[in-house]
Amino acid sequence: MKKRIFSGVQPSGNLHIGNYLGAIKNWVEMQDQFESIFCVVDLHAITVPQDPQKLREKTLEIAKIYLAAGIDPQKSTIFIQSHVVQHSELAWILNTITKMPELDKMTQFKDKSQKDGREGAQVGLYDYPVLMAADILLYDTEVVPVGEDQKQHVELARNLAQRFNQRFGQTFTVPDVFIKQEGMRIMGLDNPAKKMSKSAISEYNYISLIDDAKTVEKKIKKAVTDSGSELEYSDEKPALKNLINIYACFSNQSPEEIVKKYQGKGYGDFKRDLAETINGFLADFQEKFNSYSDEQVLAILRAGAEKVEKIAKEKMKEVREKVGFVM
Ligand code: TRP
Repeated sequence: MKKRIFSGVQPSGNLHIGNYLGAIKNWVEMQDQFESIFCVVDLHAITVPQDPQKLREKTLEIAKIYLAAGIDPQKSTIFIQSHVVQHSELAWILNTITKMPELDKMTQFKDKSQKDGREGAQVGLYDYPVLMAADILLYDTEVVPVGEDQKQHVELARNLAQRFNQRFGQTFTVPDVFIKQEGMRIMGLDNPAKKMSKSAISEYNYISLIDDAKTVEKKIKKAVTDSGSELEYSDEKPALKNLINIYACFSNQSPEEIVKKYQGKGYGDFKRDLAETINGFLADFQEKFNSYSDEQVLAILRAGAEKVEKIAKEKMKEVREKVGFVM
């Protein structure tokens, strides 16, 4: 039996090449080995204010990005979180066994609530990790492939599974986190000290998967470089290192090969070729992305929801019984 994996992306902000290289590309590679469920987590997205019409558009956009990246609906299930109501129901029940300090210590909450301070932060944002635990536990997920920043949340899912099992008897599989070690950490183009971020204030931080060729050229041209004029791959030159990493990922060349190629040539040539390389990838990606109509993706998403709903319903029946609800 194949092990089951579950992961998700929020339909907010602009999905960028960092999301692709750091997460979605890995999922594509995993889908043959694992029984894979990939979710568009719209319930998570509304933990910060969203424009309703935009949210709808973004939700379908993420699904098209999954498909364009190579997630094959014949092999993997993709669906929209809010289509399967059991996610919310299980989140509520898990709330009742979660302790405040477990959520107080979450780095993502601390980061995201910084803007408005604790007083201005919504309860939903605070509770976000419990909903994520519900996503994972509902399907007896064995492996959760995520970025380093989500490790703490998967840890909570593990703790809640164990706690529930102890209290009510064996019910949930305790999931393992999977963080691809060689997984590329792509940094912001305007600040190589921080990860490329889809909610960055400046669009010069990232290259969106649906940026056009001109925009990519402009963004790469504006990307910060370190002082000096020779291309160099080292931790002392984090901006260059990041650009070389991106080049390497999209060209299948090693950083060393790239550095050699541009010896004595300056940053201009390098940046021009880098933009061209990214655009080569994006042209192909966007052709696939644009080949799906909204109706087509929605049909795939509905079929996906129907499939996983069977698993979710069965699990919730067991949970309801265990906690003492009248059946
Ligand atoms: N919180 C995750 C992120 O922002 C997205 C997510 C929601 C998720 N539910 C999940 C990831 C369940 C893995 C499993 O990246």
